[in-house]
Amino acid sequence: MRKHSIRLHPLGKEIRVNDQTPLIDVLHEFGIEFPCGGKGTCGKCKVRLLDGEIHMSEAHQQKTTRLGLSGDWRLACLSKCTGDISLEIEQFNHLILADESDFEFIPASGLGIAIDLGTTTVVAQLVDLSNAKVLAVETMLNPQIRFGSDLISRIQACIDGNAAEMTRIIRSSLGTLIDRLLANHPTGIESVVLVGNTAMQLIFSNSDVSSLASYPFHVSDPGSKTFDPKELGWKVQVKEPIHFYPSIASFVGSDILAGIVATGMHKKESFTALIDLGTNGEIAVGNKNQIVCASTAAGPAFEGSNISMGMRAQAGAISSLTLDEGNFRAHVIGNTPPKGICGSALIDAVAILRKLDLIGMFGEINSGEENVIISGDVKLSQKDINEFLLAKAAIAAGLAILLKNLSISSSDLTELYIAGGFGSFITLENLTATGMVELPEEKIRKIGNTALIGAKMFLFAENRDTREIIAKTRHVRLEGDVGFQDIYVERMMLL
Ligand code: FES
Repeated sequence: MRKHSIRLHPLGKEIRVNDQTPLIDVLHEFGIEFPCGGKGTCGKCKVRLLDGEIHMSEAHQQKTTRLGLSGDWRLACLSKCTGDISLEIEQFNHLILADESDFEFIPASGLGIAIDLGTTTVVAQLVDLSNAKVLAVETMLNPQIRFGSDLISRIQACIDGNAAEMTRIIRSSLGTLIDRLLANHPTGIESVVLVGNTAMQLIFSNSDVSSLASYPFHVSDPGSKTFDPKELGWKVQVKEPIHFYPSIASFVGSDILAGIVATGMHKKESFTALIDLGTNGEIAVGNKNQIVCASTAAGPAFEGSNISMGMRAQAGAISSLTLDEGNFRAHVIGNTPPKGICGSALIDAVAILRKLDLIGMFGEINSGEENVIISGDVKLSQKDINEFLLAKAAIAAGLAILLKNLSISSSDLTELYIAGGFGSFITLENLTATGMVELPEEKIRKIGNTALIGAKMFLFAENRDTREIIAKTRHVRLEGDVGFQDIYVERMMLL
């Protein structure tokens, strides 16, 4: 019997199967779900053919057309393997990146495109402006990643002479992403909006980022940027200029501005807070009168950097941990053996280790060993736990200083929103147990990708003008607070 290989992305796994093997038989082992039972009606099992061929029967073709899927897409439930193939598994992307939250809007005509240009991932949604429904979603890794995974290395790469190339590749990849998004809806685009952190906005706009590399991190032009699609090399035909929303401050970008809009913080009488556990760990606190915001150095640990077996919330990552008769029970994204641990499970692990008294108040491993086994081959080292404590203290201290700036305490907050790539996997009980946020669980809400929700809201006329929000938002330099060191060191402890 002839054998073929199937490469699964972003899992990075290769499997060998017999000729004519139905994909449904092998993919469910990787946690892929087939909600309509393989009838080809729900479209949830769609996979993108990156390499090789999958023959489509007439029925398969009709069903993909009916579901609005373009050329490279196949329904796994109707596909057989007849040669070597590479597949991108959409369910893994959706699990992590997509967002379909509801919000209030005034219906308009036409379509709009909302883009969250993240340091690591880029998400674009095509939105029907008459009902705010998402018609298509496309995601990709930010191609600038080859110049470094964090903001500082990207900024350095620009200073080292790569700025023009970084601008070129992000514009060109986004153009391709938009083409894919519009494969089935090529006309009637009213507007395209982008949000992202300050460095992403400057690089996309071909502006100088060097001032972000050194104190006082001043950005001379953080404002809105508009473009004609032609100057970006994009084919999309759009009625209004393409709009990249303004940044609030040097390290607080339009992604947080979008987050403020998504939470409605700027309209509320009571005080609320937003913590975005993305790459930078930005925080905003405020109400309809005033908002303060800051960026912390917390993000990289939660995104897997600096943690020996850390990884982003993708297939193979332990996303949550619970205690089962004294042992860790791990939930792994993609139902595979665990390859590493992502931010949400890191929070669980530390909270549970402390509860079991396996680590002490300062995070020290009580057995004196260098590592603690979490699940399978995945372990946490003493250094990993220390990194976590630095990150959680950065968030806790950041929030405390912002509250102090507003002369309020955490009990004055009516709600605290947690956003970020892995935010939806967080167990609130463990989050509060680590002391990262000192608020009762009932006041904490996981809200998803607020940058994307906000970007979508910017597509509607009533949300477009952000000048009033920017005018009432004040950026606070955390390290400039006289009590910063004391507050930070105090928040390092696990009580
Ligand atoms: S499982 Fe529903 S379309 Fe394949």
